[in-house]
Amino acid sequence: MKVGGRHFQTIWITPDEGVVQLIDQRFLPHRFMIEEVRSVEQMAAAIREMHVRGAGLIGVSAGYGMYLAAIEAAARPAAAGFDEHVERAAEQLRETRPTAVNLSWATERQLRSIATGKTAEEKVALALRTANSIAEEDVEHCRMIGQQGLALIQEIARRKTSKPVNVLTHCNAGWLAFVDYGSATAPIYAAHDSGLPLHVWVAETRPRNQGSKLTAWELSQHGVPHRVIADSAAGHLMQRGEVDLVIVGTDRTTYTGDVANKIGTYLKALAAKANNVPFYVALPSASIDWEMRDGLKEIPIEERGAEEITHVDGWFDEQQVEVRIVPEGSPAANYGFDVTPRHLVTGLITERGVCEANEKSIRALFPEHAT
Ligand code: MRU
Repeated sequence: MKVGGRHFQTIWITPDEGVVQLIDQRFLPHRFMIEEVRSVEQMAAAIREMHVRGAGLIGVSAGYGMYLAAIEAAARPAAAGFDEHVERAAEQLRETRPTAVNLSWATERQLRSIATGKTAEEKVALALRTANSIAEEDVEHCRMIGQQGLALIQEIARRKTSKPVNVLTHCNAGWLAFVDYGSATAPIYAAHDSGLPLHVWVAETRPRNQGSKLTAWELSQHGVPHRVIADSAAGHLMQRGEVDLVIVGTDRTTYTGDVANKIGTYLKALAAKANNVPFYVALPSASIDWEMRDGLKEIPIEERGAEEITHVDGWFDEQQVEVRIVPEGSPAANYGFDVTPRHLVTGLITERGVCEANEKSIRALFPEHAT
């Protein structure tokens, strides 16, 4: 995607191949910073402290983290304990953020691939190839989600004649949450680029404000008309007929169609159901958990530090400042995600097509996962 007119992806490898570069999202939209990552330790910190975030991107980052772990393992005397080192790295990366399934998906894929190498050199080459494949697939799958979702938006546009289609989204499931395009935003970019009139309601997404900070910035960079709203305004807009469809992303969707996404998604799905607004979830297949049946009971929900609730940060006098907004002494609870049960989801937009949020439809699109 474009930043100041220049094409960027969120993560890439430098030509000398030992350094991973990524956009450090903690300072957006105020400052565009690039970070160099040279060790698995550093990559784990970048994921845990949310320099990179979003299910797709943390999966890709973990893929590159495993490559850095392989380089480290190969540099040990006579490459002793190569496999133990990369297995420890996989665990370290997996533990950084519990809700997104992409982390374990990417690290397991790397472990399987590295295990096929006979020498340390071969294992490092395989780890690099796999990391690059994970990143390339992420781009291609998001691009295809854009094309699948475009048809849905076109259908609504036909009914609205020349009035803009109003899409509501939550959090940031944009290109910053992946390598490029995004999941929820891919159909939006595809519709906008095709000349279709479109307007996006961007829910700010307390407590970290990924909507007002990141999605709004992305849409501005791409010239997509949008307005930021308080999270609590979504129901009001739906009651007034000002939302044609909701598209959100997901961090983990069970093979039965239950959707974990940023906290606040469930309330939007309830409001959409009550107001007959279609509620779609856009996701690459890497975000489907083929082991979990019951999202409410089984998906681990990350709980984050209370300071994300008690404080907000912003830009003042050329620097990022943080201020307290909750009385000293009032405790806070900070749940990062919630689960939207499948019966509230109109459809899943995947790289292979749109399906209903139930086991039969999901397996029909992905027959390689048939039982
Ligand atoms: O805590 P974050 O910012 O990593 O949140 C994850 C997300 O970006 C959202 O839940 C998003 O909507 C789905 S990830 C594509």
